[in-house]
Amino acid sequence: MKKVLVTGSSGMLGSDLCPKLAENYKVVGFDIKQGLCKTEENFEFLKVDLSDKTKLQEKIEVVNPDFVIHAAAYTDVDGCELNPGKAYLYNSEVTKWIAQICKERGVCLVFVSTDFVFDGKKDVAYKETDRPNPLSIYGKSKLKAEQNIREICDNFYIFRSAWLFGKWGKNFARTIIEKAKDGQNLKIVDDQRGCPTYTKDLSFALCEFMHVILEGTGYGSGIFNIVNSGSCSWYEFAKAILHEIKAEIKIEPISSEQLTRPAPRPRWSVLDCNKFEKLTGLRLRHWREALGDYVSKNF
Ligand SMILES: NC(=O)c1ccc[n+]([C@@H]2O[C@H](COP(=O)([O-])OP(=O)(O)OC[C@H]3O[C@@H](n4cnc5c(N)ncnc54)[C@H](OP(=O)(O)O)[C@@H]3O)[C@@H](O)[C@H]2O)c1
Repeated sequence: MKKVLVTGSSGMLGSDLCPKLAENYKVVGFDIKQGLCKTEENFEFLKVDLSDKTKLQEKIEVVNPDFVIHAAAYTDVDGCELNPGKAYLYNSEVTKWIAQICKERGVCLVFVSTDFVFDGKKDVAYKETDRPNPLSIYGKSKLKAEQNIREICDNFYIFRSAWLFGKWGKNFARTIIEKAKDGQNLKIVDDQRGCPTYTKDLSFALCEFMHVILEGTGYGSGIFNIVNSGSCSWYEFAKAILHEIKAEIKIEPISSEQLTRPAPRPRWSVLDCNKFEKLTGLRLRHWREALGDYVSKNF
């Protein structure tokens, strides 16, 4: 059985991804904290602070993985804006070290990146070939991570996803449900459009991709967009969430200017997934269906 190392294994994506991978691989998870998700057969957790370069190198040598999925990141977008040093260390520098270790060991590196590498000035879906121009420190630090990988590794795959929601973490859908249960009225931004993506669906897509790569299609390294189908604004997303839980609270659309936050967000970050679909034959279901599934199973 091949061995895969997943960083960020206790995070929102990692907690769905590790059990899914463990159906076919031996999985070792690195994270700064133990996750809530029950460990499965074929899964081993190691507490590792990735920002300690020496320890990181030692631990990867001991694990000796066949490939690495690097999903750990400092994901608090406003936090990154206020702590740029931490953002660049955790997101860009750590990724550079992981890329160097993978290169030295001849290991394939899969990296999870973000729609926030774009400035949102387009009005048709972003393709992998579109020029990134991040607005926020978070976006800049993730783009720098992508660039580090592309400069260092020969064997890598970068997956850009967006607007994640899942069982195991703080996310927009959960926040809306909690506020609605509290009876709070909502004011939600209606001028930013993107693709809500269920971590279970993204985990499935990443596993399918691993099969394709390991079958040896000869498909070269590169960047792939991967999100659930369809798109919406945060306001439309919130309305759909309220519909799912049958909450009857007042919800009002507002503009980005009305919500002052430290980090700027792209107005448009819809991603075109045709490249991924051509390679794997897989198109993720519509976000609306994924949301229904998420809410019915978790709330
Ligand atoms: N969430 C989204 O909407 C979204 C959208 C597009 C792309 N992505 C990307 O998808 C990936 C997974 O996102 P997610 O939402 O699942 O993130 P998450 O829930 O924040 O998970 C990331 C995990 O990595 C851990 N971590 C951070 N720094 C670490 C370090 N130095 N050493 C060890 N562990 C560390 C975090 O621990 P702490 O919680 O203690 O920091 C957390 O458990 C990330 O690469 C993110 O950039 C996310």
